[in-house]
Amino acid sequence: MAVSSFVIAVDGPAASGKGTIATRLGAMFGLPVLDTGLLYRAVGVLTERAGADLDDPDAAGAIAGMLSAEQLDDPALRTRAAGELASRVAIHHKVREALLEFQHVFAAQPDGAVLDGRDIGTVICPEAPAKLYVTATPEVRAERRWKQLKGQGEDVAYADVLADIRKRDARDGGRDAAPMVRAPDAELLDTTEMTIEQAADAARRIVEAARARWKASQEAD
Ligand code: CDP
Repeated sequence: MAVSSFVIAVDGPAASGKGTIATRLGAMFGLPVLDTGLLYRAVGVLTERAGADLDDPDAAGAIAGMLSAEQLDDPALRTRAAGELASRVAIHHKVREALLEFQHVFAAQPDGAVLDGRDIGTVICPEAPAKLYVTATPEVRAERRWKQLKGQGEDVAYADVLADIRKRDARDGGRDAAPMVRAPDAELLDTTEMTIEQAADAARRIVEAARARWKASQEAD
């Protein structure tokens, strides 16, 4: 059966370029974009602000259940600390379940949508007609993230950012709930040696091919 809306799933590890690629794909294909990492960042930050235990699935799950779209605009969600808090609460099944509906509603927009995260092609939208798994070496990702954080005014050493990235890869890939893994039908896009222009161009070609296949399947129905 053909899937009726054109969802583009963009997954991959921290600082792989998936966020920028998702934004570019949204502009190219005229689709709204959801950075699902912001949901987990918001739950992490709000759980900490509430003085609740980040390792308690019930506490973090309750906060996830009350999350609203307006809470995603907070610049505090973009910090290095927020990334770490996000990956701690993201291990809880209760948190992930509470965030499911928000993501499903976003994905169900009539023309389609772009969602970027860790489990979009595997758990959130396994039927997505276009799937990318964006990656790069930890060293290159750490350099990108280090520059980004410096640009935001965060004073942090490259070695510490690299250590964060390795820790987050291990936690996100090793968790029991929706681990970060490439979906078998996701196209691998290794951006290690690519500029952002080259990566966006490669992503566009992958998605154009997927869209042609999806359109053909719609017509065949
Ligand atoms: O920007 P960066 O790739 O560093 O992180 P992010 O996409 O904002 O995600 C922050 C954290 O949220 C990740 O390390 C994951 O633990 C978690 N996350 C997740 O589990 N599932 C998603 N769909 C998105 C993020």
